[in-house]
Amino acid sequence: MSQQSPDRRNVISLLSAAGLAALSQPEHALAQEAERPLTPACEGRATATPRQTEGPYFTPSSPQRADLRSDGDGTLLVLSGFVLTRQCRPIPGALLDFWHADPSGQYDNRGFRFRGHLFADQQGRYQFITRTPGLYTGRTRHLHVKVRGGAQSPVLTTQLYFPDDPGNRRDGLFDQKLLMTLRPAEGGQLGRFDFVLAA
Ligand SMILES: [Fe+2]
Repeated sequence: MSQQSPDRRNVISLLSAAGLAALSQPEHALAQEAERPLTPACEGRATATPRQTEGPYFTPSSPQRADLRSDGDGTLLVLSGFVLTRQCRPIPGALLDFWHADPSGQYDNRGFRFRGHLFADQQGRYQFITRTPGLYTGRTRHLHVKVRGGAQSPVLTTQLYFPDDPGNRRDGLFDQKLLMTLRPAEGGQLGRFDFVLAA
């Protein structure tokens, strides 16, 4: 029986939560199921997710992948949620393109470290794993994302924020409607955010 390091076990735990290790680790399918987000309740029309500036560091044509990590240290973050219409109907196959700074606060503007796109599943769910971005001058901690419901649909460009980050109060772009919910998990953090597209 092979011995796994605590770090390896933690990574597998979080990968399972992200649904990324289910094929090679069938014993983790139950954990994956447990971590799947529930469909949000919606009465009437939900408020569309606010738009925010793209910023200077977007790179088009990112690779398709649900694992944005690269070698190195940094707190693991598994983010999941739904892409929904304003009537709270899931949008199967919605495109999500994420990019963010590395744990030291640097963007990779020549390659695709901490950049990638993925598609929501048939229930409108998405899940990916990355490392929590570091801070850079003038900004609080954040993720950038573009979301599109379909090939002919408009693109929502926005940013997501971390609860309780001290920089939130000092960042003029910060919007509490764009706060993820976060909870600690073995080896990292589990985040949740549901995108609501206006059209
Ligand atoms: Fe940024």
